[in-house]
Amino acid sequence: MKVVDTPQKMRKLAEFLRRDDAPLGLVPTMGALHEGHKSLIARATSECGAVVVSIFVNPAQFAAGEDYDTYPRTFEADLETCREMGAACAYAPKASSMYPGGYDTWVDVPGLGAPLCGSHRAGHFRGVATVVLKLFSACLPHRAYFGEKDYQQLVLLRRMTHDLDLGVEIVPCPIIREEDGIALSSRNAYLSAEERLRARAISVALFDAKKTVAAGERFSVAIIQSCLDKLKKAGSRVDYVEIVDPATLERVETINGAARMAVAAYIGETRLIDNILLEPRDEA
Ligand code: PAF
Repeated sequence: MKVVDTPQKMRKLAEFLRRDDAPLGLVPTMGALHEGHKSLIARATSECGAVVVSIFVNPAQFAAGEDYDTYPRTFEADLETCREMGAACAYAPKASSMYPGGYDTWVDVPGLGAPLCGSHRAGHFRGVATVVLKLFSACLPHRAYFGEKDYQQLVLLRRMTHDLDLGVEIVPCPIIREEDGIALSSRNAYLSAEERLRARAISVALFDAKKTVAAGERFSVAIIQSCLDKLKKAGSRVDYVEIVDPATLERVETINGAARMAVAAYIGETRLIDNILLEPRDEA
């Protein structure tokens, strides 16, 4: 496996790896690879001729006061994981080669970037869209794999890819959960044992909501209130609980078709996000 550390070297290698008869896959990550990332890499290697895994903790998507400095970094173990899983290349640029002095170009997707996490993390999605465009431009993938855990990110990147005619297929991959339901996240590493137990309330509340909707409940306000009650009981400070249209991310008041319920909540000092697909009972 090659390890590449500048956009220029990556582009050169990508030109060699990219073939018309076997797609080149990209799995963008910020490292600290866990089973969720592994599921993306496994899917990519099963579908592509060659796979690049990018490992870059992107400073541009962390607002001041967020956890950029303390974000878990496990570079050597990540390389080993990529190697074991059959990646052709790990692309691990330094911040100074991604954003050299004088850097001044940003990608904004203002509509899809505004609600949910966008209203709590200033500049976050501008940073995500920009870095992903830069990763695409260095790695030249036919396909890029993203987890549904970052649901807003997935929808926004699909929009950017479409709007800018990037010709990359965005492949959504299901959320991977621990046995007790908690969604895998690199930030779970911040949780103490006691917080880890309390964090279960988030997925429990989402799965309860899914059951309630399948059983016939239609009113978002009731479902959201029940979720808020469960999070409060777990001592969680909530950024948002919302039910939105899966494509536009606009709020849905009455659930008449598939919808996404999304949560961002703090357990202690750790901000966790999770979401679930809600499907109303077929009344026909
Ligand atoms: O989902 C992530 O890990 C990051 O937001 C991404 C897509 C790698 C961009 O830095």
